[in-house]
Amino acid sequence: MSRNVMVTGTGRASGLGYNLVVRYLELGDNVVATVRKQSDALESLKEKYPERLTILTMDIGSTASVEAAADELKQKMDHLDLLINNAVTVSPDCDKGFFEADLDYIAKTVDVTAVGPMRVIKAFYSLLKKSEMTGLIMNISSEAGSISKCYRTNLIDYGMAKAALNMATMNLVNTFKGDRSINIFCIHPGWIRTDGRADNPAPLSSYEAACILEELFEKRRNDFEGHRFITNEGKDYPF
Ligand SMILES: NC(=O)c1ccc[n+]([C@@H]2O[C@H](COP(=O)([O-])OP(=O)(O)OC[C@H]3O[C@@H](n4cnc5c(N)ncnc54)[C@H](OP(=O)(O)O)[C@@H]3O)[C@@H](O)[C@H]2O)c1
Repeated sequence: MSRNVMVTGTGRASGLGYNLVVRYLELGDNVVATVRKQSDALESLKEKYPERLTILTMDIGSTASVEAAADELKQKMDHLDLLINNAVTVSPDCDKGFFEADLDYIAKTVDVTAVGPMRVIKAFYSLLKKSEMTGLIMNISSEAGSISKCYRTNLIDYGMAKAALNMATMNLVNTFKGDRSINIFCIHPGWIRTDGRADNPAPLSSYEAACILEELFEKRRNDFEGHRFITNEGKDYPF
């Protein structure tokens, strides 16, 4: 049975989001790919899959934009089986340490990367509830969002944002408790060459990562008891 899948942050051909879109389309699913702005890569994909790919414009930093996108999608699609919150932003000072970084950048990163997925979940929740499967939400987090495993002195905004996303995930686990029609996880997707550069030492291409994640997500769809922060290898990761 084909699934209705929505992925946020899908406009870059080398990125994980775009490659998740490609993978689900290859498998015969209906895919909603969200972008902030027009993407040539997605427009080309639309020519190949005109019936099954829907491109939706949405800025996850804006509640009004997310709600307008949800209203638009509800005219076209009656349910969602899977929501993948993949979009992320970082500040220009992401690589700097505490004494060098402009701390005023941090709030924007947290707003888009952690509050953004919550806006999306809230606006698209009614479509997930209409899934005939368990409506699944996968928040793409990072090992950098683990507080107990933190070793870095840089990536302050990114780490704080992903830790906040992990907290949001746990809050929603509590909110949905007892409701077996919705399930939610946060996941470290692996170390991936999302910049598409051949000299990037990360072991996985974005496409390889997407194939691994698609299989893992399906295995976890009805797992309501397991740890909520997992890796692309299906292992538990400490918060
Ligand atoms: N690469 C790794 O090894 C690794 C490791 C751990 C976790 N991750 C996670 O994996 C995911 C994918 O990584 P990536 O490098 O492929 O991501 P990316 O390309 O840097 O970002 C994904 C997309 O997010 C979009 N975005 C940014 N701000 C947005 C906003 N306000 N509203 C809507 N969309 C917005 C961007 O859109 P524009 O194209 O318009 O800018 C971009 O296309 C991220 O969540 C990342 O944190 C990656």
